[in-house]
Amino acid sequence: MLTTWAPGRVNLIGEHTDYSGGLVLPAAIQLGITVEVASVSDQISLTSTRDGAAEPFAADGAGAPATGWARYGQAVAAELAALGRAPVGLAAAVDSDLPTGAGLSSSAALEVGIALALCAVADFEPAPLELALACQRAELRAVGVPCGILDQAACLLGQAGAAILLDCATLDYRLVHVPERAALVIVDSAVERSLERSGYAQRRAELEHALALVGAERSTQLTSQDLEGLDPVSERRLRHVMTENERVRLFAEAFEAGDLESAGRLLGTSHASLRDDYEVSIAELDLLVELADAAGGLGARLLGGGFGGSVLVLAEVEDADRLGGEIVEAYRSRTGLEGRALTVYASAGAGLR
Ligand code: GLA
Repeated sequence: MLTTWAPGRVNLIGEHTDYSGGLVLPAAIQLGITVEVASVSDQISLTSTRDGAAEPFAADGAGAPATGWARYGQAVAAELAALGRAPVGLAAAVDSDLPTGAGLSSSAALEVGIALALCAVADFEPAPLELALACQRAELRAVGVPCGILDQAACLLGQAGAAILLDCATLDYRLVHVPERAALVIVDSAVERSLERSGYAQRRAELEHALALVGAERSTQLTSQDLEGLDPVSERRLRHVMTENERVRLFAEAFEAGDLESAGRLLGTSHASLRDDYEVSIAELDLLVELADAAGGLGARLLGGGFGGSVLVLAEVEDADRLGGEIVEAYRSRTGLEGRALTVYASAGAGLR
């Protein structure tokens, strides 16, 4: 009947800045989720090729909470009902080529893919950012993760060959061309990340506390003076977001100038800041960053929320395969873990297929 497509995302830089009104620079990638609607119905019945059929739930998302992956679908239906979507149900098959737990935002892709299908069957047409915000609220409703707008915005706004420089306070954005020479290599640590179990909510609370201490409404307002005389944790959290916002600006400039070396160095400092000031890294991710540098990458950093998942390595296109292979091999011999390297491309955002 109709099929929707929703990609995962890679965030080039600007990590843990979205929920303080900071800057981010993500791109949608070529991997994602398809939702194939077979028929319209009075309830929502979803089947996943990977996880089987979910218990059907009401078209407006009301009723007893769904379990497992269907929680995302039910939460999206509830958020869209709150926006005024008519309660039209559907039967659909969900398929994915996006690894889960790798920091590539499979949950946002699932939310957006289902949201677009629900909107299409009900002739409901919210603006892309309105839909992104509804899906962000759905993430909180489904699994209690108070995420920012990064993942859902990237999924909906993506454009082939470009990253999206997004101001998370105003939701203004512009596209930044990804230089042809640049390869974006993702190396999965094989340590599964779960935002539900991780310290994500704790970091967010610590940052909000620190911002309130200095009276800043958003992280782009911070200056070095704000950091003086604070308790050490607040100081570190604020220093990360303040310096990371600046790195986003500089990275966008470097990409626009085709200066991959500077962009790579910014990834390295971003990782150090996420590790030391924001404290969201783990030993395996630190090791992958080291191995990426040793293999001749231009720079690397942990990707997404941290506490597991992947690193992003910036490389020259002709180096990407060799580099990915070398990092995975060295990682296996150091840790016994089976990492995985994958090159991603800035790709079109979500829509009907
Ligand atoms: C997760 C969240 C995003 C963002 C990143 C960290 O991916 O879903 O909103 O906060 O972590 O940058």
